[in-house]
Amino acid sequence: MAEDLYREVILDHYKNPRGHGVMEDADAQAEGVNPLCGDEVSIYVQFADDGETLEEVKFSGRGCAISQASTSMLMEMVVGKTASEIAGLPKEALLEEVGIPLTPVRLKCALLGLGVLKVALHRAKGTPLPDEWAGLDELELT
Ligand code: FES
Repeated sequence: MAEDLYREVILDHYKNPRGHGVMEDADAQAEGVNPLCGDEVSIYVQFADDGETLEEVKFSGRGCAISQASTSMLMEMVVGKTASEIAGLPKEALLEEVGIPLTPVRLKCALLGLGVLKVALHRAKGTPLPDEWAGLDELELT
């Protein structure tokens, strides 16, 4: 039963993605591709006046329901957090939101957006890219 509910939430995020769009003059930006399927996600960030807090985030791209829905969920999770907080955000936090068991291939779909966001913040703010991304090296994060 619980899984059905999670599936419904995923579908809702896929159909009505939160924070979907492109941001001109973003303070931080990155994109990534899952080479297994060619799906891609771009993420744009605008910081608040403190230069640390994520005031607005947007994403664009195309891909499977899991990649798009998990990125949409991520957008809701990260607004109001600082760049360092997000650098330290474990992938399990997002996977908990997604809530359904995922195969290794689907795991890459689900984590594409989070990887891209971490790269964007790393570039703009020098926040670390933790070792936990080592297993995800098939994702091309640019
Ligand atoms: Fe491409 Fe999921 S099948 S990201």
